[in-house]
Amino acid sequence: MTEIEKILSKDRLEVADFERILSIEDAEELEILRSAAFEKCERERGDRVFLRGLIEFSNVCSCDCYYCGIRCSAPVERFELSREKILRAAKISAKSGLGSIVLQSGERRDEKFISKLVDTIKIIKRGTITDVPPQGVGITLSVGEQSLVTYERFFEAGAHRYLLRIETSNEDLFRTLKPRKQTFESRVRALEDLKKAGFIVGTGVMVGLPGQKIGDLANDVDFFRSIGADMIGSGPYLPSENAILSESIDVKRNFELSLKMIACTRLALRGVNIAATSALETVSNRGREIGFRFGANVAMPLATPKSSKYGYELYSGKAGVNSTPEENFKLALDEITAAGRKFEPNVYGDPLTGTGNL
Ligand code: 5AD
Repeated sequence: MTEIEKILSKDRLEVADFERILSIEDAEELEILRSAAFEKCERERGDRVFLRGLIEFSNVCSCDCYYCGIRCSAPVERFELSREKILRAAKISAKSGLGSIVLQSGERRDEKFISKLVDTIKIIKRGTITDVPPQGVGITLSVGEQSLVTYERFFEAGAHRYLLRIETSNEDLFRTLKPRKQTFESRVRALEDLKKAGFIVGTGVMVGLPGQKIGDLANDVDFFRSIGADMIGSGPYLPSENAILSESIDVKRNFELSLKMIACTRLALRGVNIAATSALETVSNRGREIGFRFGANVAMPLATPKSSKYGYELYSGKAGVNSTPEENFKLALDEITAAGRKFEPNVYGDPLTGTGNL
């Protein structure tokens, strides 16, 4: 057995192992890592991949994260989809067999925003009831840090999964990403509150942030495990013309490192859902397919109606913005098949964490 094979065959990987895995440069070692992660995914999750229709319903945001293309001080035109438009996008997803959707927007905590979203969740749940899934589509939210009470209202309304990336688990690095009032502490608390409210919780990081070390990424994987994350979505950090953290980004390196992060996360955590992110697809037009080969089992093709999605560029050149939802679903399906996986239609596709099914 080679050194890397020995590491990968351990029952429990430690941070030093993550660091070794993430430092792999040798092509043979990389293939050993890839196939170990792919096999673990297969063992735990079978050969199925789940798709969620991603509905980016508003780019209005009160945060000013330095890496983000829609931060509040970016000079972009702001939009907000009506309940009807969001419902229509949800119905298109359901009709195409996507059993779940993701509602994503900029972060806002005003009551107008919150009550509209509560309403929208209820409307979608009711409006997408068919034989499969009988309770309407599964709803994942990705609308930033909110209070525990707000999370409870969203959950009560019918959403049951929530994505909130920690972005980095290194507190010093975190401070370079956001204005002072957006603290690491409150982000961790938000993740805890989401669990308290009953949500299946997803988190993740950006890979290749300026100043981020391999050791930081190794600690990120350990962080995912220590908070008991159910879902992980990590992707390459990409340039955005409106970001102020854009100097010297090595997109190719970030892409390759993101694949190693997917594999490492798959090997470190049990039963989780791992996303092949849109950022991977943006770097390479078969990026998600490669993500599936490295152990990802979820993708979130864009389901936002064509006319309204111009304004949601977290980074430049985001994949899927010039095609219809149906075209985006079709591409994701092709990628699933090409990676030797199968699409599982009309199910929520929850992770197996906390189900006792492992
Ligand atoms: N590059 C890559 N990912 C980004 N995000 C925001 N800006 C960028 C960027 N420039 C990611 C963040 C956020 C998610 C919705 O999008 O990780 O949590």
